[in-house]
Amino acid sequence: MERPLGAPGRRAPAASRDPHAASWRHRAPLQSGDAEPLLSPAAPTRLRLYSDADLALTEAMETDPAVMRELGGAVPREEIPALHRRRLATVADDPWWFVIVGDDDRGVGEIGIWETEHDGRVVHETGWMILAAFHGRGLASAALALLLERAREEPRFEQLHAWPGLSNAASNALCRKFGFELLGEEDSGYRDARLRVNHWVLTLRSSLPR
Ligand SMILES: CC(C)(COP(=O)(O)OP(=O)(O)OC[C@H]1O[C@@H](n2cnc3c(N)ncnc32)[C@H](O)[C@@H]1OP(=O)(O)O)[C@@H](O)C(=O)NCCC(=O)NCCS
Repeated sequence: MERPLGAPGRRAPAASRDPHAASWRHRAPLQSGDAEPLLSPAAPTRLRLYSDADLALTEAMETDPAVMRELGGAVPREEIPALHRRRLATVADDPWWFVIVGDDDRGVGEIGIWETEHDGRVVHETGWMILAAFHGRGLASAALALLLERAREEPRFEQLHAWPGLSNAASNALCRKFGFELLGEEDSGYRDARLRVNHWVLTLRSSLPR
């Protein structure tokens, strides 16, 4: 069950994939999406693909106990370079992990989609994280709107799942706000922490014939 990586979201089973893990099963057709960043109508925010320049952003967020409070606590600083390298390798294979760029072109957070195994099937999980100094400004909302806009263009994303901790008020609010359906509570984990989480799912399209 150990999730070797550090993406926002729950710790997934060993067979799962996420933006820090090995290769993804499919390659998204939006390889050039970062070259033509979408601009959010809701906030001066855009997404760009995670790159080697973003180690400092990852370190700033994931070594911060305030940011990682709902995710099992701060990542030790010495683990960040390896986490960053895994993230880069995964993004090179499937470009669905993004930096959230604020109005001064500064990276203020990260957001993305990755594969996770849940109840014996591979599903798509989404997660997000913002620098503590930028919380409560609508940035995650703006970034999620952009991510969903992209995801709706990607045929393999029929549903997106999210597993925020029960006490993660902001993340649960985000799921609710964007129309995710609450399926219930589950036990999960992130890194070495055991977590009680809400399981939310957003249906982007149905594969069932009408
Ligand atoms: C979750 C997180 C990304 C939200 O980022 P943000 O930019 O502050 O979020 P927004 O400002 O867009 O707010 C999103 C919603 O959450 C609500 N919200 C924000 N902070 C909140 C808080 N502390 N308590 C309750 N609700 C909160 C907002 O009111 C908003 O809902 P509304 O528009 O319906 O009012 C940010 O808190 C974070 O980085 N947390 C640490 C990492 C983490 O836990 N990631 C999620 C893993 S599943």
